[in-house]
Amino acid sequence: MRRFPLPVAAAAALAVLLLVLLPLASAATAGGKASAAPAKAKAPAAPPAPPNITALMSKGGCKAFASLVAKSPDAQSAFQSAVPGGVTAFCPTDDAVRSFMPSYKNLSADGKASLLLFHAVPVYYTLRGLKSSNGPMNTLATDGGGAAGNYNFTVQNVGDQVSISTPASDAAARVRSTVYDSDPVAIYAVDAVLEPVELFEPVEAPAPAPAPAADAPKPAKRAQRQRRHVADAPGPAADDAATADQRKDSSKKNAAPGAPCPRWLAAVAVAAAAVALV
Ligand SMILES: *[C@@H]1O[C@H](CO)[C@@H](O)[C@H](O)[C@H]1NC(C)=O
Ligand SMILES: *[C@@H]1O[C@H](CO)[C@@H](O)[C@H](O)[C@H]1NC(C)=O
Ligand SMILES: *[C@@H]1O[C@H](CO)[C@@H](O)[C@H](O)[C@H]1NC(C)=O
Repeated sequence: MRRFPLPVAAAAALAVLLLVLLPLASAATAGGKASAAPAKAKAPAAPPAPPNITALMSKGGCKAFASLVAKSPDAQSAFQSAVPGGVTAFCPTDDAVRSFMPSYKNLSADGKASLLLFHAVPVYYTLRGLKSSNGPMNTLATDGGGAAGNYNFTVQNVGDQVSISTPASDAAARVRSTVYDSDPVAIYAVDAVLEPVELFEPVEAPAPAPAPAADAPKPAKRAQRQRRHVADAPGPAADDAATADQRKDSSKKNAAPGAPCPRWLAAVAVAAAAVALV
């Protein structure tokens, strides 16, 4: 007869346990959600910050060029937003920039931005990759819409020397050193400023002044470039949103296995209490 009350007591304890557990379980879930929130807020800091191209140039012997980029908001943001897709920049040394300054100051703000963006291509090249790439390359200054690869330059390799030329440059600019190389960003120092034919008259040609022609399409070109930047902008932002969602999902998933812990601890405690009572 002693056996009978025990299952009754156990059943009663079980009922009490269930009554206690239901609110506990939902509290645990709520707790899981609450603790997931700060994790989600912290998450965007988790991926390493993308390399800062101007800071790297500045550290690597291209201080003057980096400060020109920093003074051109258009160029600065275009350089930085090119990073995720891969970018190879060619920064002229301080000496090269110094001797070029009179011509640079003569350019419009738009011309300055184009000239700066002319010093990078939207592809990551190791030095080895560069050495096996001869021919024309589009730059960050190249307008996406046009069929002709405007603002292009030509990479030439002679022996171990990588050079970059345009029809407007007296002599090819030579790659002097590697400033930075870590996928997806490479930066090489060059010994001359690269001059696009869109801004400077070709050297060889008798040149019936392309200057007015270069001035004429400027408003359209600027509008196009700005549109391109705006169009580029949602890329990384959308990626962020996607990864944030993934993180949210995974933090939910993480919360699920975490939640039972307090629930079962409570269950054990209540069961123990029930047994003690009996
Ligand atoms: C990169 O560093 C420069 C200073 O060299 C700073 O002015 C700029 O805001 C930084 N850009 C980013 C995107 O962090
Ligand atoms: C600056 O532009 C003016 C007018 O377009 C021109 O006469 C002058 O030679 C230019 N100076 C330099 C250094 O390019
Ligand atoms: C390079 O740019 C020049 C000048 O805009 C253009 O005439 C030429 O077709 C371009 N070359 C390539 C391969 O896109």
